[in-house]
Amino acid sequence: MHENLVSLRAEALAALAEAGDAAALEAWRVRYLSRKGGALGAAMDVIGKLPREERPAYGQAANEVKVALEEAFAARQEALKQEALAAELAAGTVDVTLPGRPPSLGHLHITSQNLREYRAVFAEMGFEVYDGPDVETDDYNFGLLNIPPYHPARDMWDTFWVSQDAQPDPAQRTLVMRTHTSPGQIRAMRDRCPEPVRVILPGKCYRYEQITARSEHQFYQIEGLAVGRNIRLTDLIGTLHEFARKMYGPSRTLRVRGSYFPFTEPSIEADMDCILCGGKGCAVCKHTGWLEIAGAGMVHPIVLRNGGYDPDVYSGFAFGMGVERPAMLRHRINDIRYFYGNDLRFLGQFG
Ligand code: DAH
Repeated sequence: MHENLVSLRAEALAALAEAGDAAALEAWRVRYLSRKGGALGAAMDVIGKLPREERPAYGQAANEVKVALEEAFAARQEALKQEALAAELAAGTVDVTLPGRPPSLGHLHITSQNLREYRAVFAEMGFEVYDGPDVETDDYNFGLLNIPPYHPARDMWDTFWVSQDAQPDPAQRTLVMRTHTSPGQIRAMRDRCPEPVRVILPGKCYRYEQITARSEHQFYQIEGLAVGRNIRLTDLIGTLHEFARKMYGPSRTLRVRGSYFPFTEPSIEADMDCILCGGKGCAVCKHTGWLEIAGAGMVHPIVLRNGGYDPDVYSGFAFGMGVERPAMLRHRINDIRYFYGNDLRFLGQFG
């Protein structure tokens, strides 16, 4: 065989082995097999310049080379196709023996968890849960709690008014989103009178307030109410102290300050020693050593009477505590808006 054909075949086969993908393969085909400009075509053209007697042998040899290269090309093309297919299959393999992904489970909102804790602590102390409505009449939210219209104490609660509709009963005339859980006191007393009452009223409250890191326009409170014979201020203080111990640890101490609420007389505010520093003073208790836990007092005679009880025979105590604020102190949450922000990165920390 002519030397140029031998070396052409060797060179073409070597180059073919190097072609690693479809583009390289096509470039190889153009370079060696294409009729015009291909290396094989050029080798064929040589035939015209050969002596007549050499032409048949050369032509046959060139043809053999052509067939060999075409076959090699087809084989390489097929091999690459198989390789690509195998790679694709390997990449997409599904291992059906692997365990599935478990569906993620939800959990109670941090506030719901806290409310359950309060309920459990007060249940141990004999308090049952009593529910009142979120939308209250002006009378229940204010008037019956000894806060008549135009009384300056109304300024303690920035109020969402729901309706000014004319109603047949003047007491029903104006609806509000309850600004505190205290109206439930009247409902519980009217419901139970003349039986003794020992209830907590957990619920959402609403205030017409600027939303900031420290204040929300909706938040929870837990109201407490005990009415009966011979209930004294010391019963209230003992109850709050016991609550603090059950909720925040047996070594908690309590202190009481005089205060003012229209529906209690006398009124107090109760503080417990700081749960983080134990009273030494830290950033959480603003270096006072104390954390406020409740507003409270002895139920005002007017309020007792509005509940149906004769204040000469019956007495009672009441208290109101926040839910989000203590949780913020406990968990060092610096922005109350997280509670209603629905950010799972926040909520998921309390699973
Ligand atoms: N209702 C009061 C408030 O929202 C809290 C409160 C204070 C409730 C004293 C009480 C109480 O029952 O005795 O600010």
